[in-house]
Amino acid sequence: MKQVILTGDRPTGRLHVGHYAGSLRERVKLQNSGSFDEIYIMIADAQALTDNAEHPEKVRQNIMQVALDYLSCGIDPEKSTIFIQSMVPQLTELSFYYMNLVTVSRLQRNPTVKSEIQMRNFEASIPVGFFCYPISQAADITAFGATAVPAGEDQMPMIEQCREIVHKFNAVYGETLTEPQIILPENASCCRLPGIDGKAKMSKSLGNCIYLSDEPKEIERKVMSMFTDPNHIKVSDPGRVEGNPVFLYLDAFCEPEDFSQFLPEYSSLQELKEHYQRGGLGDIKVKRFLSQVLQSRLQPIYQRRKEWEQRLPEVYEMLYQGSMAARERAEQTLEAVRHAMKIDYFTQSSLLQ
Ligand code: TRP
Repeated sequence: MKQVILTGDRPTGRLHVGHYAGSLRERVKLQNSGSFDEIYIMIADAQALTDNAEHPEKVRQNIMQVALDYLSCGIDPEKSTIFIQSMVPQLTELSFYYMNLVTVSRLQRNPTVKSEIQMRNFEASIPVGFFCYPISQAADITAFGATAVPAGEDQMPMIEQCREIVHKFNAVYGETLTEPQIILPENASCCRLPGIDGKAKMSKSLGNCIYLSDEPKEIERKVMSMFTDPNHIKVSDPGRVEGNPVFLYLDAFCEPEDFSQFLPEYSSLQELKEHYQRGGLGDIKVKRFLSQVLQSRLQPIYQRRKEWEQRLPEVYEMLYQGSMAARERAEQTLEAVRHAMKIDYFTQSSLLQ
């Protein structure tokens, strides 16, 4: 069977280090592993509109930003098809058919939907489009025959719901759709990076993100202002590393070589953590180290972004070509779907049979 990846992001802002550690870095590895026959990376503008219906301009502006973030992280348009969701109308058609296979109560039980409804204070009045987005996400995945969806842990209920839709469809209309698997990032601590203020989630509206497009100076400033263990007041105090954002970021980004280069007094992250826990290691020193580690991971990304920013017409053309290729692939699935559902009325005189 063909190995196919589909994944994507909502273009509601520039991408940040949380996106990078939680999924972008993994995608680039998978892309370069050579184990996949086709890779689709989707800029989910239609999904972004499900909770930004009044701000289409914001979604529009962020499409190019997200495309630049992809390219600067190492997504290679020669190997991966980058496309814009709304340019593939087949996805909407497919969602419409799937809606008949899912109950309202099943959507209400979807943990991701539940928590997002809470986050957005939608409890009293949930837009129908937002409520149905797990269905449209199942359409995104199945339209490309994806076998694998690299995504963060928070997307697990989405993939589960998608698999249920695939089962149901195949049971009702005959074996047509492919069941996807989620691919989680290797290092579990990467799945969820907190904001620099220690809040559970990095989010643009909270102003607590380090963006992939941040200037090196800006990264330094943000790291130095990071929240740490509030009870670690004097250098001599014992400190906590669990849940401490500075150490969570180090878990996600630090490589063994970073010690010999930036902090030769220590030989490993474990040793650094033990010193912090014992007491006698100040926050500033750890933050300075984190800042150097982050700079060295993000610098190549920043450089590549600067280069791509000079080539916007090429990025634009790449998105158009990618969207057309995605449309063609999705149409193949739709033809099989319409045939299975016996609604392919005008193919091979089907209404006459
Ligand atoms: N829900 C994803 C996000 O919030 C975007 C997305 C839309 C997606 N459709 C998808 C991800 C299908 C993986 C597979 O960024």
